[in-house]
Amino acid sequence: MPSFRAPRGTRDLLPEVRSGLSRLEAIARSLAGRYGYREMETPLFEQTSVFERGIGEATDVVEKELFRLAPRSEESEAWALRPEATAGVVRAYVQHGLQTWPQPVKLTVLGSMFRYDRPQAGRYRQFWQFDAEAIGDPGPAVDAEIVELGYRFYVEAGLSDVQVLLNSIGDAACRPAYLEKLRAYFGRHEAQLPDLEQRRLETNPLRLLDSKDPAMGALVAAAPRISDSLCDACAVHFAAVQAHLRAMGVPFRLEPTLVRGLDYYTRTAFEYYRHGAEGQQQALGGGGRYDGLVELLGGRATPGIGFALGLDRVLLALEGAEGSPGQAVPPLAVVVGADPGDTAARLRVASLLRAEGLWARAELAPRKLARQLEAASKEHAHFAVIIGDELAGGNVQLKDLEAGTQHLVPLADLAHELARAAKSHHHG
Ligand code: HAM
Repeated sequence: MPSFRAPRGTRDLLPEVRSGLSRLEAIARSLAGRYGYREMETPLFEQTSVFERGIGEATDVVEKELFRLAPRSEESEAWALRPEATAGVVRAYVQHGLQTWPQPVKLTVLGSMFRYDRPQAGRYRQFWQFDAEAIGDPGPAVDAEIVELGYRFYVEAGLSDVQVLLNSIGDAACRPAYLEKLRAYFGRHEAQLPDLEQRRLETNPLRLLDSKDPAMGALVAAAPRISDSLCDACAVHFAAVQAHLRAMGVPFRLEPTLVRGLDYYTRTAFEYYRHGAEGQQQALGGGGRYDGLVELLGGRATPGIGFALGLDRVLLALEGAEGSPGQAVPPLAVVVGADPGDTAARLRVASLLRAEGLWARAELAPRKLARQLEAASKEHAHFAVIIGDELAGGNVQLKDLEAGTQHLVPLADLAHELARAAKSHHHG
């Protein structure tokens, strides 16, 4: 016998976990609505060049982690599963002319992303993000607003110990000089650099700062910091973001080594961590400003900022926390019958109740009535609807399994009576 398993780095979300994820999605949707964000979808795959251009070719996400789809024919384009949502959202912003809408355009995407990474705790090959983007506002107030939105998500999800790590990584005016400093610094230590980092010293020296190679730790810690090289405009912007965050009471910590793993960022960069859990692969979420991305993907120069929160990691953090979501909800009523073989009558009555919006299960096992009632009690159903000879006269017995009482109810009134009971008992 073959033994089939979910692909490495993926998980089946069994109902308990799925309902935990649904709860997070509901919080995200509710919050996004309150902050004026509207939900949209992009395809799960895009032309590979959307990611190569948008995220940057010399990044881990594109160079090592992109799920590339094999072309189906010679003329078909190269596609890849989306590793994140921002590049696709901005591609859609340009494609559909969203720059003609009132700015900023505030959008969210909730869904799966794919990265061909080495799987480990909290790092999956398919994972879920709550992504939010505000396109068309140069900030700094909107920067603080979006950082606060992410922070509030964790609070409402039940994580009270999340803090914001904040940095500014400069812009086209001040970054080039900083990159030269970085090149010179790492160049002096070239012999110590792993292969990939040696290559990136030429192509993309900023990436050395978020290298996942443990050999890089000490070198990175002593590297020149972008915060010491900001131009005046970036420094003023960064100070204003901090002032706005303080005004809103969002706890944050300046983290001058924070550079993020994607190339499109300018100025504000941030990540969310739980207190005391600030290592690699432990970021609960992150984001930043990307003032060059719209132009890079073919639109006219437009500023933007956004974040993505990793919902799998939030679920992991909540695991074991009290009130863990996802208990199966017992049916309001189980439809049972005196004639074990008459499953059709039981299904018909259950279907009638479901059509009225009630949670009812029909007993489909052809067993004795006493056994059927036992099963209904075991699953904590509130009522049993008993079908017997009375059905000929249009009636059924309604047994309250909690109170132990029973009375005759016309079939025509059954849904109404159950609905009333459901309301007063907060069922369904
Ligand atoms: P990111 O930092 O690459 O940013 O991912 C955001 C979050 O997604 C991470 O902090 C983490 O919680 C979660 N995440 C990333 N990779 C994995 C994985 N393999 N398994 C589980 N969780 C993961 C972005 O994706 C940017 N698009 C954020 C953004 C939006 N910037 C501007 N707008």
